Amino acid sequence: MVTGVDTSTQSCKVLTVDAETGDVVRSGAAPHPEGTSVDPRRWWDALLAASGGAPVPDDVDAVGVGGQQHGMVALDEAGEPVHDALLWNDTRSADQAARLRQHWGGRWWAEEIGVVPVASFTATKLAWLADHHPELADRVEAVMLPHDYLTWRLLDTPAEAVTDASDASGTGYWSVPDRAYRPEVLAYAFGRAPRLPRVLEPREAAGETAGGVVVSAGCGDNAGAALGLGLREGEVAVSIGTSGTVFTSTRTDVADPSGGIAGFADARGGRLPLIAVMNCTQVLADTARLLEVDLAGLGRLAESAAPDADGLLLVPFLGGERTPDLPHASGTLLGITRSSYTAANLARAAYLAVALSLDHALSLLRGHDVPVERVVTLGGGARSATLLRTAAALWHADVEVPEPAEYVALGAARQAAWALDGAAEPPTWPRVVRDRVEGTDPGWAADVRGRYAEALQRVYGVAGATF
Ligand code: XUL
Repeated sequence: MVTGVDTSTQSCKVLTVDAETGDVVRSGAAPHPEGTSVDPRRWWDALLAASGGAPVPDDVDAVGVGGQQHGMVALDEAGEPVHDALLWNDTRSADQAARLRQHWGGRWWAEEIGVVPVASFTATKLAWLADHHPELADRVEAVMLPHDYLTWRLLDTPAEAVTDASDASGTGYWSVPDRAYRPEVLAYAFGRAPRLPRVLEPREAAGETAGGVVVSAGCGDNAGAALGLGLREGEVAVSIGTSGTVFTSTRTDVADPSGGIAGFADARGGRLPLIAVMNCTQVLADTARLLEVDLAGLGRLAESAAPDADGLLLVPFLGGERTPDLPHASGTLLGITRSSYTAANLARAAYLAVALSLDHALSLLRGHDVPVERVVTLGGGARSATLLRTAAALWHADVEVPEPAEYVALGAARQAAWALDGAAEPPTWPRVVRDRVEGTDPGWAADVRGRYAEALQRVYGVAGATF
């Protein structure tokens, strides 16, 4: 048996799985403080709580940790945090991100590093620490990512910190094409290079726990989900949570100087081109609250409206946006007339807004010749039949809904099984499909897409969005 851990933004989830079949044998979860900056030691406490006291169950042969990407875990000489970890959803380093982008330019970043920095990335957070708390920055001895921190604490001491390519590629100071750290980025962002985790190959073991359990390299959560789903070429995962991600696992390089697509590494030795958007199910929740209905009620209201919401159009950047890169943006409501301004149309506009923002992400992938034949959905948003039908009308692709599961933890478990057997490929575990919705592209969809692209251009100055 093998165990996979997902140390996510909200909680820690632990799955123990039959290494041969991928069947889940046991699962546990425990919350930890949420927000955009958190003491990393609370993640360890949550891991202990989720696995029933001991960090790793004593009947497993291997364990792997997947985790939220990008978080800055900055430790002093004694291995204690000098500051709360600044997480991927913390935008306080937006100015530092802009400075890093300007210093080398988008083309350099895309070609040399594989990603163009946004406020989520670790390099920008280190720059913020150096700018705002130089006395703390001086005390930083080692920097690691959320999953690395748990991997490091799982290993028998004294342990060397390690990471994998998927998570290293989200720092901004590890080059995807070179597969190496780039000290000049750290020198510019932070003034010097702190001690960094060694980057392991996907199936390489990090070491063992004190009890002799093999610990795998671990991975970023999106790469973990791709591994857990067994994502194939032509399949694109769309994860619809509070925020959303759109990604695929491919052998092809994707360099996007605009920064819309982050050319991350995956957890199988390939690439994980990914687009992150900040406003997904939260937009539905906020609209439901405004209309004083629950989510089921919001769905019913939306179903009672015309498919194009009678021209009411919501651009959903309620909490700033990452793609397009507008960290300080607010949303926009367009097409308000006396006949279109109804609760039903507003509900419909909220579903359209979420689907359109994800459609924009899919169009970026297509624009870089990444095939989008089938979309595989993940996350709570995929449970909404209204959202799925709206998406299938807008995305030019069939939509597959796998059986709900903790795919990040499953991917981490699969990596652990891989580290154990050392085969050329990760073990094949079946994906259980719950639902399929055929792509439809009805007449109104082109018009709605066109108006959304126009709004991006007119209101936000985002040129050339075509869907
Ligand atoms: C990806 C990203 C998020 C986090 C969520 O770039 O910022 O998907 O990984 O945990």
